Amino acid sequence: MKLDPWGSSRIEDYSKLFDEFGIKPFEQILGMLPDVHRLMRRQIIFGHRDYERIADAILSREPFAVMSGFMPSGKVHLGAKMVMEEIIWHQEMGGDAFVAIADMEAHAVRGVSWHECEKIGVEEYILSLIALGFEPEGHIYFQSRSKTIQDLTFELGCEVNFTELAAIYGLGSEARISHLTSVLTQSADILQPQLEIFGGPKPTVIPVGADQDPHIRLARDVSNRMRMFLVEERDGYISIRGKDVDKKALEDLNTFFDGRKRLYEAHLDLYGDYTLDEVERIVRDFEVARGGYGFIPPASTYHRFMTGLTGGKMSSSIPESFIALTESPESASEKVMRAKTGGRVTLKEQRELGGIPEDCTVYDLLLFHLIEDDREVEEIYAECRSGRRSCGECKKLAAELISAFLREHQERRDDARSKLREFDIVGLWA
Ligand code: TRP
Ligand code: SF4
Repeated sequence: MKLDPWGSSRIEDYSKLFDEFGIKPFEQILGMLPDVHRLMRRQIIFGHRDYERIADAILSREPFAVMSGFMPSGKVHLGAKMVMEEIIWHQEMGGDAFVAIADMEAHAVRGVSWHECEKIGVEEYILSLIALGFEPEGHIYFQSRSKTIQDLTFELGCEVNFTELAAIYGLGSEARISHLTSVLTQSADILQPQLEIFGGPKPTVIPVGADQDPHIRLARDVSNRMRMFLVEERDGYISIRGKDVDKKALEDLNTFFDGRKRLYEAHLDLYGDYTLDEVERIVRDFEVARGGYGFIPPASTYHRFMTGLTGGKMSSSIPESFIALTESPESASEKVMRAKTGGRVTLKEQRELGGIPEDCTVYDLLLFHLIEDDREVEEIYAECRSGRRSCGECKKLAAELISAFLREHQERRDDARSKLREFDIVGLWA
């Protein structure tokens, strides 16, 4: 078996996503950026769509946005922490950051009352987000309280029909209207950063777990349908196709280009030395000036999930399987001490055969969350594989680190509570 401290071999489990859905390996991006986040370096973030655009924007200091959302339906745990860290990292890289508290989804899909949504949204998610380093320039909002989101959802609804949503989400004719609305609201969340009030079209990255890809595909698809013009590179020329626009609009657009070109009823073909990028930019500006959206299809990153501490899935209905950012350090340490490891049955076997960090939830904790230094993780990996390490050692280390982390995080949450007013939170005071 290949030695691989980052567990990238387990990405195989996700290879279906690569082949079937066109998600690309994140590895390709690593060389583009001088500095990447721990989760990227370790290939926990394993896949992406269109992330090149984001890397370009970071490098050239062009505007871009980062956005993701959280359903306020239970405890905020380490899985949410991953997404929060990704949002904050992109904010540090210069991105305009957006965070949705998906109360409409929690209400429609999980039956959480509005009162609970607000309480969980603030007490669990928002305080931890700020404690982890989210800056006040970013935007936080409750879906149900944002008029902008409501309006955009309605507008997107003009382009999406029931059959389509049913196919993407496996819904039947008994599906409730509000469930459908909440699904479409997530597309509005994803496209909102590109509205004119937020500075217009810009590359936007949505960090999510691999399970959220249907939402991304829908939002990307819809972003194209909302366009007035579609630009495509053909063999030797660039074609601009108008959608539901009158000939006059195409004629006006035509004046922005010189060189060899041909104007038809519903499209304009350019043969000059324009690059696709240039043409897209000109067309997008033109579209926005005419009151269109000019959306750029949103980019995304995908991370793999930690297994639950009990060995099975990490599930909010099994408290032993996860560690909440709000639970006591003592309780978290106890969970770690009881967690399933990749160790052998006896110490003797462990010495002879070595452990299996790939099947170890304690190793995952260290790898995903608790150790920043790559070399230290690599050492633990090697020691485990060679049989020089006992699970007791790892558990003790992980328990100490998680307690220390939670103690500090919870202090920061208290600070966050006292400076909550500095943050623009649509739905709390707007
Ligand atoms: N559906 C997501 C979840 O189940 C939450 C969410 C709402 C979201 N809006 C979003 C995620 C926009 C990414 C982008 O957790
Ligand atoms: Fe996991 Fe550490 Fe045991 Fe190896 S030694 S199986 S990494 S707990």
